[in-house]
Amino acid sequence: MTFVKTDGTRVEVDAPIGLSVLEIAHRNDIDLEGACEGSLACSTCHVIVDPEWYELLVAAKEDEEDMLDLAFGLTRTSRLGCQIIMTEELDGLTVSLPAGSRNAMSGT
Ligand code: FES
Repeated sequence: MTFVKTDGTRVEVDAPIGLSVLEIAHRNDIDLEGACEGSLACSTCHVIVDPEWYELLVAAKEDEEDMLDLAFGLTRTSRLGCQIIMTEELDGLTVSLPAGSRNAMSGT
């Protein structure tokens, strides 16, 4: 899969099936925070999914939608990285890192 950093640099990384985008980011030193470690209690793992890929993702659950509402720089194809789990179909997935993030846990 590919991460597009805020400066536009594309980073292609290995994306093992079954891992979340957040876990993959952490394994590859991608600057995606994920303050609550995937328990849907922050929005710091916010990523902007390439529109081509967005449709292929399992739809966001209500909890995720609620948390996304708090994310900084929300877009129509925003998702929480910890909720996107790699599958075979998602081979090649491209997501961009948002310009800023807000941690719902610390309120900053
Ligand atoms: S890591 Fe906190 S919601 Fe994803």
